[in-house]
Amino acid sequence: MNSFIYHIPTKVYFGENQLSHLGEELAGFGKRVLMTYGGGSIKRIGLYDRVVSEIRRAGLELFELGGIEPNPRITSVRRGAEMCKEHGIDVLLAVGGGSTIDATKFMAAGACADFDPWDFLSEKHARIDRALPIVSILTLSATGSEMDTGGVISNPETQDKIGRLDPKLLPRVSFLDPTVTYSVSPYQTACGSADMMSHILEVYFCMEKDLYMLDCFMEGMMRTIIKYAPIAMKEPDNYEARANLMWTSSWAINGFINGGKRKAWSCHPMEHELSAYYDITHGLGLAILTPRWMRYCLDETRLPKYVQFGTNVFGIDPKLPPMEIAERAIDMLADFFFNTLGLSSTLTDIGIDDQKLRLMAEKAAGGGLQHAFKPLDADDVENIYKMCL
Ligand code: NZQ
Ligand code: ZN
Repeated sequence: MNSFIYHIPTKVYFGENQLSHLGEELAGFGKRVLMTYGGGSIKRIGLYDRVVSEIRRAGLELFELGGIEPNPRITSVRRGAEMCKEHGIDVLLAVGGGSTIDATKFMAAGACADFDPWDFLSEKHARIDRALPIVSILTLSATGSEMDTGGVISNPETQDKIGRLDPKLLPRVSFLDPTVTYSVSPYQTACGSADMMSHILEVYFCMEKDLYMLDCFMEGMMRTIIKYAPIAMKEPDNYEARANLMWTSSWAINGFINGGKRKAWSCHPMEHELSAYYDITHGLGLAILTPRWMRYCLDETRLPKYVQFGTNVFGIDPKLPPMEIAERAIDMLADFFFNTLGLSSTLTDIGIDDQKLRLMAEKAAGGGLQHAFKPLDADDVENIYKMCL
């Protein structure tokens, strides 16, 4: 296996009533705070008022930018970066799900640059020299943005949705209070859980040599999602379920499970094209794609990993013929997404037809898929999309 560096210095406050530390943490970065949030869920659940009162109690100066969209737009990023420059902001506080945190990451970088923040994401791939510090309060367990270096931004003008990783985008501090996710709808809980599953599967299914310890860790996290996502959907205020999902969301993508693997991800580039063209929920697209991708990639060379997945995650009898275990594992994953979590199972069901499949396949394949678990070109991706219709 490859050597690696692991360095995720995000300070995490996990659990109820940790927001009492918010003021002191923000004050450590300066006096002027830009709080960012989405379409209003934080106001409905009373979180907005709690956060504002903590900021005021600490004697900090508050600026705010709401209305960040799911699949956040570059226009919101530009607005935030401008506000930071205009008001001399010292620290950004993202209160929300992955969309709000992602947008805030690029506002923080844009605030320190004298060019359009889209240049960070476009082909220009502008260097991120500096970014303002980011603190996050997570409200939806899904993307792991609260503890990872990535962010994904949409540009409707060019119909692009592009991700970028950079250590400077990592939140310095994240508050993870499972009770603030009690209000997340069953649908968003399902999509978030599918997203976490995918983050793990993208790393787990890999032809590079695995570290046994990390495989066990990944299998444990997948069993955690399978166990607790349905509970959280049925009992939204079940603390144990919400807490398990929340901590899994962070660890599924904070780099720990990679263990030096360098393979490209497969389903995420394919899904980002679906979101770019049809503005669908990220986790839903992944749920539809993942079982088809697994079926498409299944062959004798890759079979052992499917067998390991089927027996260790779904408890399939290891005495069955390996190919049967693999097929059953894929069926059980699809059953989890579409029956247990109740997500739509085809692109057709969510109003996507074959019109743009080729275009999306070409763009997705350009995202490094030749280095994936099974190398995929545009024809392969188009075939996988067709399997999803
Ligand atoms: O906007 P508000 O009103 O806050 O409502 C949101 C939104 O409508 C709602 N919500 C969030 N917390 C809630 C809540 N509703 C009730 N109670 C709460 N406590 O949920 C809806 C979806 O929110 P969003 O932030 O869009 O969801 P998610 O966290 O799934 O983020 C998705 C975005 O993250 C990107 C995705 O591509 C997508 O753009 N990703 C980011 C990654 C990263 N940073 O590493 C990796 C992922 O693979 C992913 O690509
Ligand atoms: Zn994802």
